[in-house]
Amino acid sequence: MVKRPVLIAVSLALLVQNSWAAEIAAPRRAELLNLLKHDCGSCHGLSLKGGLGPALTPDKLTGKPVDFLATTILYGRYGTPMPPWRPFLSDPEALWLAEQIKAGVR
Ligand code: HEC
Repeated sequence: MVKRPVLIAVSLALLVQNSWAAEIAAPRRAELLNLLKHDCGSCHGLSLKGGLGPALTPDKLTGKPVDFLATTILYGRYGTPMPPWRPFLSDPEALWLAEQIKAGVR
């Protein structure tokens, strides 16, 4: 059983460190962008301008923090068609994808 202070310390370290991009190798980044286009694009639109799922464009995501979006990506939204991607993505990968979306990369 991990104690709460340890969890808090780890979360803080992750927040401060902010180095998830460095942990993702270039070939995996290409795979993630491919996933974004084809799998995410099947609901959010090929250019992420919306479809069954809402637009994932920088203007629409203003004010939504990267960790909030990454949580949505990892765990989905219960009661909506947004599925959890936890089985396929690590935390750094989800954070990196959320950053890409917010930066308008697709
Ligand atoms: C089966 C359809 C579907 C797929 C596939 C899908 N999404 Fe979604 N997504 C949705 C829906 C629907 C919502 C809106 C949920 C709601 O009503 O809050 C959503 C919401 C989101 C949000 C929150 C947007 C906001 O403005 O808060 C993000 C971020 C997101 N999706 C990212 C992704 C990513 C990244 C992928 C691929 C790894 C993906 N989605 C794949 C349907 C999908």
